[in-house]
Amino acid sequence: MTLVDMRNVGKIYQLGSTQVEALRNIDLQIQTREFVAIWGPSGSGKTSLLNLIGLIDAPTTGEIYLADERVDLLADDELARQRNHKIGFIFQNFNLVPVLDALENIMLPLQIRGMRQGQAREKALVRLREVGLEEHWNKRPDKMSGGQRQRVAIARALVGDPALVIADEPTANLDSGNSRMIIDLMRELNRRDHVTFIFSTHDPRLLEHVDRRIRLEDGQIGATE
Ligand SMILES: Nc1ncnc2c1ncn2[C@@H]1O[C@H](COP(=O)(O)OP(=O)(O)OP(=O)(O)O)[C@@H](O)[C@H]1O
Ligand SMILES: [Mg+2]
Repeated sequence: MTLVDMRNVGKIYQLGSTQVEALRNIDLQIQTREFVAIWGPSGSGKTSLLNLIGLIDAPTTGEIYLADERVDLLADDELARQRNHKIGFIFQNFNLVPVLDALENIMLPLQIRGMRQGQAREKALVRLREVGLEEHWNKRPDKMSGGQRQRVAIARALVGDPALVIADEPTANLDSGNSRMIIDLMRELNRRDHVTFIFSTHDPRLLEHVDRRIRLEDGQIGATE
């Protein structure tokens, strides 16, 4: 089944009086259960593309469908609802809430949905164990290593059982041991739970493990392998 369908999508940022064309003529389909990497040089449009797929930003032109539903025209509250229910987003800088501990950070998307505290806690604990951080449940982000923070970010992205997880350079801030662990963890969740993963990367080690690589150059899709 096609999960993501982008049709002739373009993105232009307005910077004062100048326009930056970050993406153009993007036609891209991603199937359920795929494990896909977007790669390309700095400035090629990777984050812009992921933000559009993740409903964080809207395209300037073109159409975007998620599971056959057109999403680029939705109103803000409906976008937020779809994001919360269908998508887990892992940001390059983790974006954890500094005043919340690991468990509370993971619970957050469920609480936004209105799930009661006890149930949200139980679900978050399952994900915390899955990423191997149960002993650190009450640590705040500033007391965790980069690898641990990234694992919390992954657990938070998965806690709501999204169909799609998007990760912007998930290993960029990690050493090789932690990168390896994060790659293996994402791959396992992809195989076991059939979660679709789309991520951007510069990391050749990560590119070795994907089903498909989508190359971006100057905002356009090049060779797909
Ligand atoms: N909010 C913004 N306002 C204006 N221009 C932007 C904005 N975000 C990105 N751009 C520009 O759009 C182009 C694509 O940027 P983008 O961040 O998507 O690239 P990237 O491939 O993710 O780069 P990197 O590998 O450095 O993260 C660049 O020219 C960038 O300067
Ligand atoms: Mg980027």
